[in-house]
Amino acid sequence: MSIPVILSIDVGTTSTRAIIFDRNANEIANHQIEYSTSSNCAQDENTPTDAIKLKPDFSRGSGFESFLSAEGVEIKQSSLVEIEQNMNYKAAPTLIFPKAGWVEINPIKILENVVQCVSRVVELLEKKNHLISNSKFKNQKPFRILGIGVTNMRETTLVWSRNTGCPLYSGIVWSDTRTSHIVDSFINSCRPEKLLDLKQKTGLVPSTYFSSSKLKWLIDNAPQVKQIYNSSKNNNTTDISSVDKIMFGTIDTWLIYNFTKDHNYLTDVTNASRTMFMNLETNMFDNSLIELWNIDHRNIVFPKITSCSENFGFFTLPNFEKFGSKHFKLSTDATQLIEKHLSNVQICGSIGDQSSSLVGLTCFELNNSKCTYGTGSFILYNTGKQKIISSNGLLTTVGYWFPQISGQPTYALEGSVAVAGSVVQWLRDNLRLIEKSSDIGKLASQAADTAGVVFVPCFSGLFSPYWDPKARGSIFGLTQYTNSSHICKAAIIGICQQIRSVINSMQADFKSAENAVITNSLLRVDGGMSKSDEVLQMQADCLGDKIVIERSTTSESTALGAAIAAGLSFQDSSLRLWKDLDDVRSATNQATKTLSKNSANSKREFHCQMSEDQRQREWELWEKG
Ligand code: G3P
Repeated sequence: MSIPVILSIDVGTTSTRAIIFDRNANEIANHQIEYSTSSNCAQDENTPTDAIKLKPDFSRGSGFESFLSAEGVEIKQSSLVEIEQNMNYKAAPTLIFPKAGWVEINPIKILENVVQCVSRVVELLEKKNHLISNSKFKNQKPFRILGIGVTNMRETTLVWSRNTGCPLYSGIVWSDTRTSHIVDSFINSCRPEKLLDLKQKTGLVPSTYFSSSKLKWLIDNAPQVKQIYNSSKNNNTTDISSVDKIMFGTIDTWLIYNFTKDHNYLTDVTNASRTMFMNLETNMFDNSLIELWNIDHRNIVFPKITSCSENFGFFTLPNFEKFGSKHFKLSTDATQLIEKHLSNVQICGSIGDQSSSLVGLTCFELNNSKCTYGTGSFILYNTGKQKIISSNGLLTTVGYWFPQISGQPTYALEGSVAVAGSVVQWLRDNLRLIEKSSDIGKLASQAADTAGVVFVPCFSGLFSPYWDPKARGSIFGLTQYTNSSHICKAAIIGICQQIRSVINSMQADFKSAENAVITNSLLRVDGGMSKSDEVLQMQADCLGDKIVIERSTTSESTALGAAIAAGLSFQDSSLRLWKDLDDVRSATNQATKTLSKNSANSKREFHCQMSEDQRQREWELWEKG
């Protein structure tokens, strides 16, 4: 007999992690790697990955700390992963900032990071099982991985060759703004009715944020992509199998393609709905939407769209040799251990990260809402089976789709704020106002107010509800009196006010929607910045006394959501880790209660403590900015 557990793989914007969860959302093993970047690469590549993780950061989750408390076993860097100390390898960063506004990710490094995280958690699981079999833990059964769930930053666009499986360019990250000229001319060339129709079909607004303009840029500018695109257009050969094609995908597709035995080419509906090529009515890629961007769909291959919860294929390790990168090598022991635990295990959950945290925070009811403070901050409001098309700058997105539990997808209204944790990192790394990200709340709360300073933190344009791609970060109202506390406070308030604008828009949409849903008064929050009491108090003050902020006690709700998607995937309910959504809620609540008691962030609810007058004054100041 054994205890079934799920392995969750979470590829975020600044780090990758693998976490093994049991039914009660306890973390059995957890490993995280923060990305090396084009600016920190030399330093980080020489540093063991566990040490990198120990650098406190405001990306989502907590990772290592919880693993420490959950484990009680040796925590040194795995000896099982061998990385050739090769100059090229050291020089290759994961995240690259080639020019102002450009953000790229190395597709092969993504796979390497996942392999390292998986290798580490499997090693930890093996150690735990070993201790259990030596009866150190009386009455405990060994753990067995039942399935794998994948979650990822959305919109990030990758292209690879159908013939070789090799990437044709770096991945273009969601926050990259290089395509603003493409978006501008797209908007200028569309009649207003066309834009409305586009919004109805996709739930999105034309923006650099989504995959469509990124794919267009790659076709026009990346030499290898351009060449394959044009040659497949001009090729008249009858042997179509020999003609190379561009395979398009988001991070989920790239992972599933490389980590499944048959190279399955799939994308789940939550990721697909963020490409701007998917029709929300059919849940399929729509050729007319692709062609709107002057992309000939016949020259590109698109993955098949699936639900979030099904058999995506049996796990295998990627073949790194085909990339010509001989730099990454897993030792025989590590390979054998992964095979022992994962060779007959399916990837059976896949869900975009913001949808995943909606699930991990158990926002399963109509009107449940959440805000995750990650690199950006993302507010999702569960609208059930209703797709509300916003007239106020919000997005309609797929919340989740678990066909074993419910026939159709559940939808959400989303407000995406491009910058949150990234401004804290900027204050830490570029201005050096704080040493650790977690210092920001304390420093900000030393000032009673911002002394007239307004900080509009937008490095990559303003997203919801403003949609201004050209906006760039600005700080107004500086005087000789201004100090670092005022600037930090203004930065936090800048994020909080954008969230307030999103919530105002949601309320306006609900008022005008047919079958209007009733606005909810509870906002569940998670992610790095939510660990700070000071930040959450400022957020509650911005939102006013009609909204209560409820802090999640599960720091890894994004990874948990993917585990839930995987655990619900089996047709036969007796094989599932959870029978249904009620079962998820009650099983994971138990863990939440225990965590809550022990948690350093013991305060769970935050209420507005600011007078209405002051709130109004701060809002007016923000609006002027
Ligand atoms: O849409 C972008 C989002 O999916 C990225 O999330 O947590 O990596 O900032 P995060």
